[in-house]
Amino acid sequence: MARRIVIAIDGPSGSGKSTVGRRLAERLGYRYLDTGATYRVAALRAEELSIDIDDEDKLARVCSDMEILFVQDGNEIKTFCNGKDVSEAIRKPEISSLASEISTKKAVRDILVEMQRRMGAEGGVVAEGRDIGTVVFSGAELKFFLDATPEERGKRRFNELMEKGIRVSLEETIAEMRRRDQRDRRRELAPLRKAEDTLVIDSTHMTIDEVVEKMFKEARRRISQGGDC
Ligand code: DC
Repeated sequence: MARRIVIAIDGPSGSGKSTVGRRLAERLGYRYLDTGATYRVAALRAEELSIDIDDEDKLARVCSDMEILFVQDGNEIKTFCNGKDVSEAIRKPEISSLASEISTKKAVRDILVEMQRRMGAEGGVVAEGRDIGTVVFSGAELKFFLDATPEERGKRRFNELMEKGIRVSLEETIAEMRRRDQRDRRRELAPLRKAEDTLVIDSTHMTIDEVVEKMFKEARRRISQGGDC
């Protein structure tokens, strides 16, 4: 039987990580782990409970009390928190921004990183986020860093939100993307950066299929290199 490795995909928002990560996982018969969703759920809970985001003790309690489940539903992966479907609520722009803010807090990261490690512990997983190859699964057998220009990423996010019926302006989406990027790259804890052994893919001029194909070939090569386990 082929061994089941851990594949890390890091990169800024809008680089296409989620779409390609999901498709890559499907082609390999792997699970897909969206670590950004865990920060989004924490942000949603903090908002619902009106937690002051500078109160790390309360934030830690909120994170410890969350039971997050990812459930495949047809072509979609639904996110549940404590039994409630939060898939749509966590994608709202204000939650994106709040997730980026609370992800700078040590108490939050300590708990969520542990949760993510448990979710991927058995291998056979494509995990996507900002610090997967550098922190969460620093020993991952295969690491990608997916990038694209801020304008292209802003356009993609804008189209995604419009499709979901969330009305925003293109300019504001690009501006918000840049703000979030800066925070994610400049924060003290586990900032977005390239792991040394990562393969960088710039998706600005590539289709989703092309990116998935490139990753799939790399994954097959890496899986066959390692022998059985
Ligand atoms: O990937 P995303 O846009 O759903 O992530 C939302 C926020 O969560 C992002 O702005 C930064 C944070 N995040 C993180 O700090 N580490 C991760 N591994 C994933 C996301």
